[in-house]
Amino acid sequence: MASTATMTRSASHPGWLRLTHWLNALAVLIMVSSGWRIFNASPFFDFSFPAVLTLGGWLGGALQWHFAGMWLLFANGVLYLMLNIASGRLFQRFFPVSPRGVLRDLSTALRGKLAHDDLTHYNQVQRFAYLFAIVDIALLVISGLVLWKSVQFGLLRELLGGYEAARRVHFIAMTLLMMFVVVHLVMVALVPRTLLLMITGKGRKA
Ligand code: HEM
Repeated sequence: MASTATMTRSASHPGWLRLTHWLNALAVLIMVSSGWRIFNASPFFDFSFPAVLTLGGWLGGALQWHFAGMWLLFANGVLYLMLNIASGRLFQRFFPVSPRGVLRDLSTALRGKLAHDDLTHYNQVQRFAYLFAIVDIALLVISGLVLWKSVQFGLLRELLGGYEAARRVHFIAMTLLMMFVVVHLVMVALVPRTLLLMITGKGRKA
C-alpha cells in the first residue's frame, strides 16, 4: 500500500503540459526581451529599458528574435489550449472560479492558512492567475498581429482602436504579464514542491 509520502507520477501535470509550459516560458522570455529592444528604438513613454535586459543587439536583430519567438509562442499556445480542452483538464482544473472564491482563498492565503497538501488541485487564486495569463497572452498575440500586419488585420486594428492604440494595448498586456510572472515566481518559491511537479511530473500523492 502506498504511503502518503510516496512519489507518484501526477495525472495533473502530464508530459505535454510540462513541455508546453517550459516552451511557453522560453517564448515569453524571448518575446519580452526582444520586445523591450524594439520599444527602445521608438519609445512612446519617457523611458527606455536597460540594454542589458534586451535581446537582439539592435532593432533589426530584435525584430528577428521577436518574429521567431512569435511562432513558438503561438504554436505552443495553440497546442497547450487544444490538449487542455480535449482532455477536459481545462475545465476540471480551472473551474469553477468566482470573485468571491478568489477573495476567500486570497484572504486565507494571506493569513498563511491555505492548505498545499494536494498539489494537483489549484486554489481559486491560482485558477484566476493562470486563466488571466492565458487570456493576457491571447491579447498579446492579437494586438501583435495588428502591429505586424496592420493592413491585413484591418478589422482587428479597428476593434483595438487603431494602430497606435494597439501599440498601447500590446505594451499594457506585456506589463500585466510581467506582473503575473513576478507573482507566479513568488508563489512557486513559497511552495517549491510545485516546481518539482512541473519539472518531473512526480509529486506526493495526497
Ligand atoms: C514566463 C512566463 C510563464 C508563464 C506565462 C507561466 C504560466 C503558467 C501557467 C498558465 C501555469 C498553469 C499551467 C496549467 O496547469 O495548465 C503555470 C504553472 C506553473 N509554473 Fe509557470 N509560467 C511562466 C514561467 C514559469 C517559471 C519561470 C517557473 C519556475 C521558475 C514556473 C513554474 C511553474 C510551476 C511550478 C507551476 C505549477 C504551479 C502549481 O502547481 O501551482 N513558471 N505556469
